[in-house]
Amino acid sequence: MPERVLITGGAGFIGRHVAELLLEHGYKVRALDSLIEQVHPPGRHQNELPADVELVVGDIRDESAVQRALEGAESVIHLAAEVGVGQSMYAVERYTSVNDVGTAVLFQCLIERPVRRVVTASSMSIYGEGLYRSADGALHQDVVRDGRNKFGGWDPLGPDEQPLSPAPTPETKSPGLRSVYAINKYVQERLTLTLARQYGMECAALRLWNAYGPGQALSNPYTGVLAIFASRVANGERPMVFEDGQQRRDFVHVADVAAAFLLALRHPSANGEVFNIGSGEDRTVEEVARVLASTMGRTDLEPLITDQARAGDIRHNIPDLTKARTMLGYRPRRDFSEGLHELAEWVARQEADDRVAEARRELEMRGLVA
Ligand code: UD1
Repeated sequence: MPERVLITGGAGFIGRHVAELLLEHGYKVRALDSLIEQVHPPGRHQNELPADVELVVGDIRDESAVQRALEGAESVIHLAAEVGVGQSMYAVERYTSVNDVGTAVLFQCLIERPVRRVVTASSMSIYGEGLYRSADGALHQDVVRDGRNKFGGWDPLGPDEQPLSPAPTPETKSPGLRSVYAINKYVQERLTLTLARQYGMECAALRLWNAYGPGQALSNPYTGVLAIFASRVANGERPMVFEDGQQRRDFVHVADVAAAFLLALRHPSANGEVFNIGSGEDRTVEEVARVLASTMGRTDLEPLITDQARAGDIRHNIPDLTKARTMLGYRPRRDFSEGLHELAEWVARQEADDRVAEARRELEMRGLVA
């Protein structure tokens, strides 16, 4: 009998890709999803679930919905979450309720009805600033920044005000929680590792870097930066870049993220562990804005560098993928420029409302962009 997997948040961007991959590998898939409007605008069919997925519509905080969704499930991939770092800094109750109370409700139900394994989506956000190296080769792991540095730049400085450059961050780096979202994700991860073990379930958590690809919620102004930029460019607007655009991230294709979830679900060595998941290549936000606009045939839409920071954002964070490579055999396969072409083709077939100005006003009103 094929194993039945419950994917919470299974109708979301990552959830749909994970669902498809699990179906291809012979699993039965059930999704629990509340289909919130910010992600699933009414009347839009761009985000459809594969036909063989059984959908339970319900909130992760609703115990009876979770119980229904768990019936007959042998494992759980927990993706249900509010995901905007900026938005988490003012919608504090909503984020903490969905992300942390939601995870608590899931485990309350799992205590009564344990499964073989639970895999939870954590985030690189839990590290805060990534690991840094100074010119003398020393590594710095507790770097914090508060807006601009004293020389007016955006990069954090080391002891004695030395310049620092980002270094690959391993799972052993201590957490540095800089946003409500990061706090929420850390709680989700710890609840998973603590409670699963206590109740005889296997578990793993994946600390995801910036996932992108077809299917990301284009009209959600709090979604990942590539979807936001794609929606701006599709509407003939210049991408708006925070700070000076030189902040570095690792953009990982959603197909590689889905492959990582499959490994985490079935690999014996995944049990009890956390893994960084990225592409292994890092880029600046300005660069991705430029390359995306050019891929979409709009080199005229130059990035608009705002020289303002968004509250809760970290400067640089790039992953050390050694652990996932060696313990799980994780191999990111998607080439970034092919990924952007695919994203551009997908975007060309969608309607994308550009609601970025509206989201920016929400942040500005509360002093969260400065
Ligand atoms: C993102 C995800 C988070 C995930 C994390 C993992 C979203 C909303 N957030 O957080 O769920 O856990 O990756 O790595 O998907 N930026 C601009 N202009 C914009 C929007 C953003 O310049 O219009 C900048 C931000 O200031 C930031 C960078 O782009 O420096 C990335 O932002 P974002 O895509 O929101 O990702 P993270 O905050 O890294």
